[in-house]
Amino acid sequence: MEMTIEQIDQTVLGWLANARQQILESIKQPLDVDEKSSQRDLVTNVDKEIEQYYVQQIHALMPQARIISEEGYGDDVQTMDGDVWFVDPIDGTLNFVKQHDEFASMLALYRDGQPVLAWIMDVMNDQVVHGGPDYGVYCNQTRLTMGPDYGLTDGLVVLSGVRLLLDQHAFQEIAKSSIGFRIYGSAGIAYMHVLLGKAVAYVSEMKPWDFAAGAALGQGLGLKVSDVDGQPLNMLLSGAVVVSTPRAHADIMGIEKQAKGL
Ligand code: IPD
Ligand code: CA
Ligand code: CA
Repeated sequence: MEMTIEQIDQTVLGWLANARQQILESIKQPLDVDEKSSQRDLVTNVDKEIEQYYVQQIHALMPQARIISEEGYGDDVQTMDGDVWFVDPIDGTLNFVKQHDEFASMLALYRDGQPVLAWIMDVMNDQVVHGGPDYGVYCNQTRLTMGPDYGLTDGLVVLSGVRLLLDQHAFQEIAKSSIGFRIYGSAGIAYMHVLLGKAVAYVSEMKPWDFAAGAALGQGLGLKVSDVDGQPLNMLLSGAVVVSTPRAHADIMGIEKQAKGL
């Protein structure tokens, strides 16, 4: 018999609780840290172990499902047909290594390209934002509703630091137009700020496992989710992603159009 959405949610919350215990144990020991593309792009033994754990659990739960994951234990996925999981075992690995704080663990389930359920866990604060469009969005057991529909002039915007320095996608104009900007170094932590109503937008350019959970949960709460041109996201490619209140979305789209001379 097919599992209900609630049963899938409860099952994955159990995986996250196990992963959290494993992560908390691991940071008591020295981490095994390797560089990927640069000295700012790290992977640790914990990223690999946690991804392997999630991949095993997903295969046991849904043998037909395919997995898009960061550290290479998933599948080579070319279409969004059927059940596709996104896995980012440790999001904000630099924070994980240097701060032992402000990092997340993220999973998302999409069916035929549409979000079903997603989970973002702030590991050190023991908070999980989870849910989806047909299920509602929760922070631990508390149901969330969308906060006030503030625009940029009334709200904090969360941005990627590197993209802001390089002024990609008019990030500096977005920052200047907002009441203030914040940089967290973890997409998951950034999305949690928007989902919990502490910020009006998170804009960044990222890989699918970085934005899949935030996009699913944002959609579930009634936030706007698009690329910087206002188009739907391509879940198989890296891209610039906006998750925001409707008003902040309109403000950001205006800035993007102006920057392109439209
Ligand atoms: C990174 C973080 C960071 C974002 C990068 C991501 P990782 O994820 O979410 O905030 O700006 O684009 O790659 O590599 O630590 O999982
Ligand atoms: Ca990530
Ligand atoms: Ca990661």
